[in-house]
Amino acid sequence: MAFPNGFFIGAATAAHQVEGHNIHSDYWAQELLPHSSFTEPSGEACDHYHRYEEDIKLLAEAGLNAYRFSIEWARIEPEEGKFDENEIEHYRKVIACCRRNHVEPIVTLMHFTSPVWLIRKGGWEAESTIEDFRRYAAYVTEKLGGELKYICTINEANMGLQLAAISRRFTLMAQQAAAKAKSAEGSVQVGMNFEKMMENMKYAAAENAEVFGTPQPQIFVSSRTPEGDALVFRAHQAAKAAIKALYPNIQVGITLSMHDCQALPGGESFAEAAWDEEFRHYLPFIQDDDFLGVQNYTRTQYGPAGQLPCPEGAELTQMDYEFYPEALENVLRKVHEDFKGDLIVTENGVAVSDDSRRVEFIRRALAGVERCLADGIPVKGYCHWSLMDNFEWQKGFGMTFGLIAVDRGTQKRTPKESLAFLGSYAQ
Ligand code: BGC
Repeated sequence: MAFPNGFFIGAATAAHQVEGHNIHSDYWAQELLPHSSFTEPSGEACDHYHRYEEDIKLLAEAGLNAYRFSIEWARIEPEEGKFDENEIEHYRKVIACCRRNHVEPIVTLMHFTSPVWLIRKGGWEAESTIEDFRRYAAYVTEKLGGELKYICTINEANMGLQLAAISRRFTLMAQQAAAKAKSAEGSVQVGMNFEKMMENMKYAAAENAEVFGTPQPQIFVSSRTPEGDALVFRAHQAAKAAIKALYPNIQVGITLSMHDCQALPGGESFAEAAWDEEFRHYLPFIQDDDFLGVQNYTRTQYGPAGQLPCPEGAELTQMDYEFYPEALENVLRKVHEDFKGDLIVTENGVAVSDDSRRVEFIRRALAGVERCLADGIPVKGYCHWSLMDNFEWQKGFGMTFGLIAVDRGTQKRTPKESLAFLGSYAQ
């Protein structure tokens, strides 16, 4: 079956992971702390800030018709209330480049990184962040809204609760065998070095206090309290209202990180509780959104005693989680049970060195999307993570999620076979 006309086959990136020199952001500051938990700093990353044209061309030449990227808040508003018009112009050019290449830009306003000043004010646990985010969203929309059809307000808005859960588990497991601790790290869908973070904790407090004015900065990717969890979604709602007031036709949604939560006999209540926490309890905040961005990488299984490690003998990715492309179809089906709006797969991918495994992953994941479409589930597009090998947060550049390889010394781009393979679905 071919995908319907207008179905997006695209690839995704996030500003901080590819652009380089995001110097006013909280991540940049944390990467440079003397006892940083980052494997390496982001530095010039993939220099996408200057090479976006080449990158978007490669995407388009391979047949892809959508590019999901993020606008960097720390560039647009490097100081509280001071907006940088030059940075708006930069993103205007990126959007124009997409249009020239017949590629639909799907823009994310907040993909994990925030300006340092926001974190100094209390970050993602502070009530004032709702208004700050609303004002930033309104500013970007006022300037660029006329050129956009799709906006994701916040990337993986549920990440904070997942981190809270995993850090509870990690603390427990770290007291046990080191090998088990490693498998706990592999259960979050983002590059985190929990072991290193734990070791660094005694130094981190003082170093953070110096940069952020608080020993425990509440960056977006921090363990969230239940109040902070709700605050993130209230910020989404405020931003959405601001966007709609300016451009009612822009399709607005949020994206969520979702595991395929599977129950083995006796594990049903654990799987249900995990799914409630990852997805269902957010429904009141997102029910009326134009679309939901679904981001999935793997499954988690639950038995009578709770979450299970990866099955014996399972193929693991570089991120230490299971290679399991079937998870996407299962997640789309489960989401559709409760959320009847459009779905866009805003991220799905795999960190592997052997690109033929990525081709296999895409083949099986897209077969699942096709089955969903055949059953009438309104999936409007699929954006693969990621367009290019990039900065996988705390894990640095070692994780290769890209459809395009990037030489770290020369910044030379080399498309992998998987890029053309993905593109073949759009033709
Ligand atoms: C994030 C990306 C990240 C990817 C792979 C998602 O959690 O949105 O920024 O690189 O997963 O871990």
